Amino acid sequence: MSAATDASVDLLGEARRIAEGVDQLFEEALANRCDGRDRLCAAMRHAGIGGGKRLRPLMTVAAAQLFGIDEYRALRAGAAIEAIHVYSLIHDDLPCMDDDDLRRGKPTVHKAFDEATAVLAGDCFHALAFELLADERTHEDPFVRSDLVVELAKASGIDGMGGGQAMDLAAEGQELDLNAITRLQQLKTGALIEYAVEAAVIMGRVMPDGRARYRGYARNVGLAFQIADDLLDHEGDEQAAGKRLQKDAEAGKATFVSLLGVERARAQAQMLVDQAIEHLHGHGEEADLLRAIARYAVERDR
Ligand code: IPE
Ligand code: IPE
Ligand code: MG
Ligand code: MG
Ligand code: MG
Repeated sequence: MSAATDASVDLLGEARRIAEGVDQLFEEALANRCDGRDRLCAAMRHAGIGGGKRLRPLMTVAAAQLFGIDEYRALRAGAAIEAIHVYSLIHDDLPCMDDDDLRRGKPTVHKAFDEATAVLAGDCFHALAFELLADERTHEDPFVRSDLVVELAKASGIDGMGGGQAMDLAAEGQELDLNAITRLQQLKTGALIEYAVEAAVIMGRVMPDGRARYRGYARNVGLAFQIADDLLDHEGDEQAAGKRLQKDAEAGKATFVSLLGVERARAQAQMLVDQAIEHLHGHGEEADLLRAIARYAVERDR
């Protein structure tokens, strides 16, 4: 099959559409409770609705297109990943972690509300993720739903995002080598991005021997995405990014940029994107959205 061009893909339009779908699912879950939980509800809406690139749900929907999966179902799985992501950002910004006051162009949750509310808002997004996945509307087969739940738990926990965040904090002020930074980033950011594609693979009941290339794609995009985040932190525009920048060096964080420098980090990210796209070579234009997402992962300014 040809090396399809993806010029025809309306990446921004698709991203907007998926963002609206995620907002709608969160709206349904976050109708206000006027009985002492209203502050928590408001905090969750502040963090979860109407912000962010929604890249992970977009990846799930794009991968689902390869396997003929109903888009609403893919969107529910994508919203579950986004719920974990939102929780991770709320906690990442807390004073005990990165101590940030700006996220998605707005005050962070603990600034707009308070720390206890921010911890609880994160906790409740974490729970919402599994509630979304375990519902029949996500998939009629309980074995598929159970697989979705187990794999998201792994991607979020000690062998995934949570473990990576711990490594990130432990590495402050340390010099890591390329292998150690790659491992850290793969857990911190890569695991959830890998799951965004894996969810579609699970729902599409792709045979085990057919899964490697999708995992390869997602792994490369995940790493490239975090290198782009580190580059943004180093040289991006705070207004566009909607978060404080130049914090990694200040906190002595070990990143690809601190190890490789800007030029080599950028080259590494580009190489990873090329490799990601190479994994899709057996596909035609049905994979154009995934190709466009891979390019966007490193070309973005936010
Ligand atoms: C930021 O993630 C944190 C990382 C894992 C690098 P995103 O860059 O996807 O943030 P949003 O969702 O668009 O705000
Ligand atoms: C956070 O990484 C990744 C998460 C798991 C939340 P960063 O700390 O680099 O993310 P930003 O730069 O604050 O968005
Ligand atoms: Mg952090
Ligand atoms: Mg941070
Ligand atoms: Mg960062």
